[in-house]
This record gives sequence, structure tokens and C-alpha cells, in this order.
Amino acid sequence: MEKIIILDFGGQTSNLIARRVRELGVYSEIVPFNIDINKLKNIAPKGIILSGGPSSVYEEGSPQLSNEFYTYITEEKIPVLGICYGLHLLIHQLGGNIEAHEEKEYGRTELKIIEPNILLSSLNERENVWMSHGDQVKTMPKGFKILAKTSTCPIAAYANEEQLIYGVQFHPEVAHTPKGNVVLENFISKIASAKKEWKLENWIDQKIEQIKNKVGPSNKVILGLSGGVDSSVVAVLLHKAIGERVHSIFVNNGVLRKNEEIEVQETFREKLAFKNFHYVDAEDLFLEKLRGVEDPEEKRKIIGHTFIEVFEKKTLELEKTYPDIKFLAQGTIYPDRVETSATSDASAKIKSHHNLTLPDDMMLDIIEPLRDLYKDEVRKIGLQLGIPKELIIRHPFPGPGLAVRIIGAIDKERLEILREADTILLSEIKEAGIYESLWQAFCVFLPLKTVGIMGDFRTYDYICAIRIVESKDAMTANFAKLDWDLLERIGTRIINEVKGINRVVYDISNKPPSTIEFE
Ligand code: XMP
Repeated sequence: MEKIIILDFGGQTSNLIARRVRELGVYSEIVPFNIDINKLKNIAPKGIILSGGPSSVYEEGSPQLSNEFYTYITEEKIPVLGICYGLHLLIHQLGGNIEAHEEKEYGRTELKIIEPNILLSSLNERENVWMSHGDQVKTMPKGFKILAKTSTCPIAAYANEEQLIYGVQFHPEVAHTPKGNVVLENFISKIASAKKEWKLENWIDQKIEQIKNKVGPSNKVILGLSGGVDSSVVAVLLHKAIGERVHSIFVNNGVLRKNEEIEVQETFREKLAFKNFHYVDAEDLFLEKLRGVEDPEEKRKIIGHTFIEVFEKKTLELEKTYPDIKFLAQGTIYPDRVETSATSDASAKIKSHHNLTLPDDMMLDIIEPLRDLYKDEVRKIGLQLGIPKELIIRHPFPGPGLAVRIIGAIDKERLEILREADTILLSEIKEAGIYESLWQAFCVFLPLKTVGIMGDFRTYDYICAIRIVESKDAMTANFAKLDWDLLERIGTRIINEVKGINRVVYDISNKPPSTIEFE
């Protein structure tokens, strides 16, 4: 399959470039900017896009391209498109000048095309584009010509047609650049002539092939299966690639939703015919360790460590029967990597948590087939693989489960209350036909008692908060502006049907500044 490679200089939208190129039908992957040149040669890209990034090219230690890289693209005539930092870097390394500009350009700007060129073909003379930069190109080496400018940036796009080097100061990958896709399409089809061979079916076939090759004819793979979309898709992909040589471990950590442990077992054992599906009931161990713990980070740590302990123990036990377990598969997707740590040497670390908590010292090689994909791409692949739709459309559920949805200490009584309330919320949301349009809908237990009145009696019970958000990738989220009647029905049912709750409140916070989960 022909490919366009994105070299990542650490920009927050680097992966979006890869995603846009895939949406245009050409397979695309993101790799670190300093990828070994032989690896790059092996990939044999039809074109290379340099992403944006947080650095300035003239700063000491800023990410740069090697001489071998320039030799490679010149000898093989590989077209290159630099975006923002990428545009600066090409000019900086090829003999031009980049300078900081007093006036930073951030947000929507009008681009004026001054020289027609294949890169900007089909664009109007003036187009809205989205900018985010402080540095700009001052002078360019021989062979480069200016294609477009903005009111504060005299060189907002350039081309060197002989060397096949192009650059845009604006970000074609973001939705705020309405014709951004046209620019990317011009580059990948008209300049790089990449064939549009990327389809989900091809991706699946290719991944299955890769997994088979990596695992070999007899080794086995262990997988931590949560029953969520990502790990389920990995499970089925592995099952298709190596059959019963995938051993899935599903741990009941005591903070699952109502009946979840039963449903997940049914799906995998019965509907998907997994033979090596191992259920570990560790509810008591987890709840014992969590007893009395109030601090959210402490709860997350305990759950993470206990999970590793249980998972390792089960793996060691399985290794006695199956000594050729050599790999550990994980359902990491791209946003997990961004939120957890750097996606390459150049990107900024944002926060540590989420899915990447599995042991480093298990001496198993890692397989992460979904690491470059977004959730909606994973969902499409899941459906294509024949995974039941109910599972694919499930809302994300955090690893630490209901523990981060009970504020403060956790006990069985609180878990019970939360499970009942959550079940009512979800059934009403599904009944109203809006489940799929929401990113997440869940209840949170607030350990605060307030006064109420039920019939003739005064009550003094807990508060249940409802959190319902819309989002594309969980990086940002808005609270859902739900129909009042529906909210009223949910609230009334929870108060009437769940013993222990006498007040329901609706969370109207967006992310940022709030997070989706409460803890
Ligand atoms: P926040 O609360 O950070 O959550 O806005 C963003 C998304 O991540 C989910 N989440 C987690 N997922 N392990 C997970 O697998 C975790 O520890 C975790 N914490 C939050 C959250 O549900 C939301 O979709």
C-alpha cells in the first residue's frame, strides 16, 4: 500500500494530519522526526509531511532533520510538505532565515494567494486559514518562490518545484482551515501521486498479516481485556490473526458497572467464541485495598498496582501451562498516548494516567495495533470485524471504573447505589435514542447528605450527580444540553427507585477547565 509519512515535531495536531490523509484515502502513519533513515527507506513513502511543533528552529536542541534525510529525499525525489515548524525547518536547514515576529499570528486569518501553484490549486485567491505561530520565514534560499501571504506574514506558503519541497505556515489539518483538505489532497495526489488504497479492510488485512509475522507460528499473546471498545477490537483482531493463541484476561476489579462481568463473559465466550478467555474475580482484593482511601490519585494508584499484581499472577499461572507466551497486547489508541506521555521526543508531556499502566518488567514484547488510531476509526474497524454493535458503540469507561465516580471512600453500599442510578440513567438515555450521539453519560456519587421529603417522611440521603458530555476525542468536551423533560424523568426515577439518593444534580461544566470524570 502506498504511504504518506508524517514526521512528528511534537505539534498538538500532528496526528490529525495522518488522520486527514487517511480520510482522503491514502494510508498514512506518524513517526518520530528522528526516525532512523533506513527505517524510513524501508517504509518507502510516496511523500513526507513535516508537522508543526512547539520549538523554534534557531533554539539550541530544537528538533532538526539529518543530512541523510536531505540526501534521501533528493536522491529518491520524494516530495516534502512542511507545515508550520516543518516549513521553518526546511528553510532554516537549506540556507534561509527564520525570525521571531513581534506580532504572533494565532487563529483565523485570511490567506492571499500571490502565485498560482499546484499545491494551492482549486483555492480561491483569498481563503480563511488557521494559524498558530510566532516565528516566520524572512528570507528563502535559491529555488524557492512565495505562493501566498497574510497581512502579517509575507511568506505564508512556498514551493521549490525542482526539489519538490513545499511549505505552508497555516494548518491545513484543522477544521478551522475550511479548504485544508484541498491543500492536503493537492499534495498527496497531484504532487506525490500517492494511490488511494487505504480502506479499513486493507488496514485489517495488513494488521492481521503483521501480527502473524510478529508473533510467529507458535508463540502466544496475553491481553488485558476490559470489555471496552479498544481492548475488544484488539482481542478480535488477534483472534483472527492467531486464533486461540490469544489468551485474554478479564479482571473483575470490584468497581465495574452493574452486570458488566457477566455481559463481557457472555460476549466473548458465547458470541465471539473465544476459548482462552480467563475471568479473574478479584473484587474482594480490590475493595479491601481501597477501603477508607479518599484521595483520587491514591485510588487510581491502588487500582493500577493491584491490577498489575492480579494480571501478573494470572499470567505466571498461564505461563506454567503455556510456556510460549511471549507477547503482551494492549488496546492503546492515539489519544491515550498524547494524554499519557510524549508521542515522540519532540512533543510535550501533558499528564500521566490512563491505559499505559501495564508492567514494564514482564519481559513480554508489546503489541499495540491501534496505537495510531482515533476512537471513531477503532469503532469502524470493530464493526468491520463483526463485533456486536452494542459493544462498539459503548461509551468509554475509565480503567479505575466506578472508583473515580464515587467521591471519597468506596464501599459496597455506595457502589450498589451508584450502579443502580447509573443503570437507570443509561436505560433512559438509550430509550430516548441519544446514546450514540453522546460521548459519555454517567452518574457520580457525592458523599454529601441533604434533606428531602418522601411521602410523609423527612429523608437525609446522598446526592447523585449526572454527567453527560459531547466530545470528539475527549480532549475537549461540552456538557450536553439535554431535554428538560428527559432530565426530569431521569432524576425522578433515580430518587424514587434508588435507596440512599434523595437529590439529583446536573453537571454543567465543560472540559477544559473541568475534566470529564470527577476524579
Ligand atoms: P478526563 O476525566 O481526563 O477523561 O477528562 C478523558 C477521557 O478518559 C477517560 N478516562 C480514563 N480512561 N483510564 C482510562 O482508560 C483512566 O484512568 C481514565 N481516566 C479518565 C474518561 O472516561 C474520558 O473518556
